[in-house]
Amino acid sequence: MNDVTLEDYERFRLFLEQNSGISLGDNKHYLVSSRLRRLLDEYAIPGVGQLVDRLNSGQDRVLRERVIDAMTTNETLWFRDVQPFEVLKRTILPELALRQKRTLRFWSAACSSGQEPYSLSMALQEYLWSKPGSLPLGAEITATDISASMLKEAQSGVYDAASLTRGLSAERQQRFFEPQGGGLWRVRNEIRTRVQFKEWNLKQSFSALGKFDVIFCRNVLIYFSNDLKQDILRRFAAALQPQGYLVLGSAESVAGCTELFDMARIESTVVYRLKMT
Ligand SMILES: C[S@@+](CC[C@H](N)C(=O)[O-])C[C@H]1O[C@@H](n2cnc3c(N)ncnc32)[C@H](O)[C@@H]1O
Repeated sequence: MNDVTLEDYERFRLFLEQNSGISLGDNKHYLVSSRLRRLLDEYAIPGVGQLVDRLNSGQDRVLRERVIDAMTTNETLWFRDVQPFEVLKRTILPELALRQKRTLRFWSAACSSGQEPYSLSMALQEYLWSKPGSLPLGAEITATDISASMLKEAQSGVYDAASLTRGLSAERQQRFFEPQGGGLWRVRNEIRTRVQFKEWNLKQSFSALGKFDVIFCRNVLIYFSNDLKQDILRRFAAALQPQGYLVLGSAESVAGCTELFDMARIESTVVYRLKMT
């Protein structure tokens, strides 16, 4: 592939931001060419300019998805940052259990290959083991991502031994996974069936998803512009039940939307709570 010209870079940047929200800085030419190289070779497209022409013609949905896939960062791990899951078990779930009137609903809003929603489901299970019968109306988890390939991996619930070592104790591996042969492990049914996966772009309206008691949206808002971040935070507020919780990544905050959320520091972790109106 030829070097990416400034004009092609700007056109690609616009395509990516309009379609995924991902906002590239001024000098990410190298990132664009390295992430797209294989795809351009596979499709025999000579360069980024021709790729943008083809994407803008709107005729190739698969190519569009694969380009977005190539440009997203899917890094994730089990029980990422540990503390949010402890806070969920020790503070949020006991509180929600006290006022439970219906099935509790959780949303993992950029779930990548599934580690976050399955960790949520495991944390819920551990809570239920410690307080049997405390959520008689049950709990469900909706897990969404823009990336079709990540969702496919997540939905299978199958992981190799190396990816299980990233954040998962041997005890949790034994409790929550079953061996599949060939060094692969599958998330057990009782953990998997609580999670429903859906392809969803955070730029889309959330109204069809219904209301949630807790939203985890971690390590994705950092890729978006301030305007889009604030738009998403406002729509999260509308998608939360009264006094619902929003959990963001450690480098993220509700800046610009503090009128909607109260900040609560619990055990050195910051979580946000929908303000009472
Ligand atoms: C770094 S991962 C974070 C995964 C997980 N939340 C965590 O903290 O470990 C970011 C995820 O955001 C997804 N993503 C990026 N843009 C998105 C968008 N506009 N809508 C939905 N998901 C998006 C990517 O596909 C990727 O899987």
